[in-house]
Amino acid sequence: GNVIGVFTSGGDSQGMNGAVRAVVRMGFYLGCKVYFIKEGYEGMVAGGDNIEEATWSSVSGILQLGGTVIGSARSKKFRERPGRLSAAENLIKRGITNLVVIGGDGSLTGANLFRMEWADLVKELGETGKLTTEEQSRCGHLNIVGMVGSIDNDFCGTDMTIGVDSALHRIIEAVDAISTTASSHQRAFVMEVMGRHCGYLALVAALACEADWVFIPEWPPEGDWEETLCNKLASERKLGQRLNIILVAEGAVDRQGNAITADAVKNLLTEKLKYDTRVTVLGHVQRGGSPSAFDRILGSRMGAEAVLALMDAKAETPACVVSLEGNQTVRVPLMECVNRTQDVQKAMDAKNFEEAVRLRGRSFQN
Ligand code: F6P
Repeated sequence: GNVIGVFTSGGDSQGMNGAVRAVVRMGFYLGCKVYFIKEGYEGMVAGGDNIEEATWSSVSGILQLGGTVIGSARSKKFRERPGRLSAAENLIKRGITNLVVIGGDGSLTGANLFRMEWADLVKELGETGKLTTEEQSRCGHLNIVGMVGSIDNDFCGTDMTIGVDSALHRIIEAVDAISTTASSHQRAFVMEVMGRHCGYLALVAALACEADWVFIPEWPPEGDWEETLCNKLASERKLGQRLNIILVAEGAVDRQGNAITADAVKNLLTEKLKYDTRVTVLGHVQRGGSPSAFDRILGSRMGAEAVLALMDAKAETPACVVSLEGNQTVRVPLMECVNRTQDVQKAMDAKNFEEAVRLRGRSFQN
């Protein structure tokens, strides 16, 4: 039967465990053998105990847990050819020719390069006597299927990445909690929200929490925004509002591309409005805690579809990503998604924000 290796790579996110569990269980259902590759690419390169055969019960009780129980890492070694040679040997010795990678765009790009280089790696391992002729012939090509696990929702090709919904829940719980103390003391709170270069979490959290203002990378404030912000907050206070909540995405910038930080916004309110203002940086709290029902189901659906995609893959099938489009789990070409994700960043760097937003929202289905 087919042998599958599953691993998580890059930053963890809630719902990754649900995806791993579904890969294992769907794999068994279809008669495959499944291996965990622990600690991401690091474990693949190191081999040994890091590559462990999964059992039905080894994924019991993990759906409810945040993070990734099989570990994750950012691997330098895998970026070098000797690291990838060793990874290929470790996989082939166990008969693994199907990989499921759960990670962000860097991890998915790495997997695709590995797939393209595979025949070459196998050849070199054969020539150096590390693989038998039989091992070489049974491992002719490597199938790759990706899933995007990230709290940032910054990947083109899927409506939702695994983990973003749970992170959003963490944020709105925190903002709701801050709001009661803010109101008691008539304070303003400036809260920094994660998302790297993507404003999704900050924007959607702001809508869900009735925030007064939100700064996101994709829509830098125009004109004399300091004045506009202060006037808005002051008029709200005049109407009897006892608090202000301002969310700042960690990647927020102004029209010149300079960072807008929570501290800078705090200083503005303190100096111009004399408001008692506090900063709260939510940080990694957003990436922790139990996955929402949505992320448990999303990871499970994607994991099951990933195995089906692997079983359909042929030597010439390009690597794909399982993604969510509308309410459907679909397969989209991995490298097209990665390339477009990079195009979004280029548009942002060129301060062409409308183009960045347009590209990110475009469907891959038509
Ligand atoms: O990509 C997920 C993320 O949490 C980002 O939102 C944040 O910018 C980054 O990772 C933090 O990285 P680290 O966990 O390495 O500090």
